[in-house]
Amino acid sequence: MSKVPISKVTQSWHYIRDKCAHKFWDPESPPDLTVEEDITGQVVIVTGSNTGIGRETALQLAKRKAKVILACRNLEKAAEARDYIWSKFPKATLDIMHLDIGDLSSIRKFVSEFETKYAKLDILVNNAGVMFTDGKLHKTEDGFEVHMGTNHLGPFLLTRLLVPSLKKAGPGKVVCVSSSQLTLCRLDLDDLMMEKRVRTGSDGTEPYNVSKLADALCIRRLASSLKQNDNIHVFQLCPGFVTTDVFRSDVGLFGFVRKIMLRVSGVTPAYGCETVVFCCVNKSLTATEHNMFYGAGEMYRFCARYEEGTSFLDPEDPKAIQLYKMSEEFVGLAE
Ligand SMILES: NC(=O)c1ccc[n+]([C@@H]2O[C@H](COP(=O)([O-])OP(=O)(O)OC[C@H]3O[C@@H](n4cnc5c(N)ncnc54)[C@H](OP(=O)(O)O)[C@@H]3O)[C@@H](O)[C@H]2O)c1
Repeated sequence: MSKVPISKVTQSWHYIRDKCAHKFWDPESPPDLTVEEDITGQVVIVTGSNTGIGRETALQLAKRKAKVILACRNLEKAAEARDYIWSKFPKATLDIMHLDIGDLSSIRKFVSEFETKYAKLDILVNNAGVMFTDGKLHKTEDGFEVHMGTNHLGPFLLTRLLVPSLKKAGPGKVVCVSSSQLTLCRLDLDDLMMEKRVRTGSDGTEPYNVSKLADALCIRRLASSLKQNDNIHVFQLCPGFVTTDVFRSDVGLFGFVRKIMLRVSGVTPAYGCETVVFCCVNKSLTATEHNMFYGAGEMYRFCARYEEGTSFLDPEDPKAIQLYKMSEEFVGLAE
């Protein structure tokens, strides 16, 4: 049976506990490189990398000499991000490719172009995401509720279509930027497109939370369905509370409160990308030590396992199984 959501107070307590236990990097002088995998020449896709956490992730991976593909829906903004990274690392290998993750046809086009250009994919970072807190029902090009379409169905299709390229990398990695907000909500399979549910919720984030839970469950299930010899490691993570444009639709009292909380406890994107980069490059996560297999879609936060988050992601939960099938049907992958 799926887990009962936890309260905002409990979630905040877990957050403060984990944040206090963690020492942040200095983005200008990253941690000991000996614990990192050498990713020189590796092919990496970062979705939504024109700003925020995605742009800083792309920068950190390019700095480590990976070939980074900036997969963005706005090519002008992507070019600005590329120039920003080049201004810091002039030798960075960067490629811009168009991808609207909220549009299934754009995703299929992106994957076919990618396959003609690149023989393999080492790391896929599913970062692009949206959050609307205005209580209105926004929809994607394909008619899906905007959070479900952008934060779940799009990344789900992209990941599934890129599995063959990831298999060729051996080991390939999928790193999904999720959110600890998924512990606050319940999945209603009869109302995935949020048409019946009151969308405002306590702070307007309910549709966002549901989409993050749906995505994390399906990614976990996908990870559990991959075979050992597919050699693909899958990680999910919460980046923490990061001052980015994701909160751009915030209005009213809750918007005001969130702005204050961001000021007090938020970190900049340069720090917010830390756990994303950790999942991409930390050697210990792909080492098979003491018969432990990491990279089966478990959750991380502040560069450590985030057990409470992972406990929400039972891949054998009947709801997860049904959701996975429904998601396949939505994106046109059902057999
Ligand atoms: N900030 C936080 O505190 C926080 C906490 C937990 C999780 N997250 C997650 O972190 C990820 C990155 O968010 P962020 O905080 O860095 O916010 P952000 O600055 O708003 O970045 C989001 C990125 O996603 C892109 N994007 C949105 N819709 C897209 C679409 N349909 N196709 C392609 N790209 C699209 C945006 O592109 P445009 O510029 O064109 O809109 C932007 O590049 C998201 O998945 C978010 O849910 C953030």
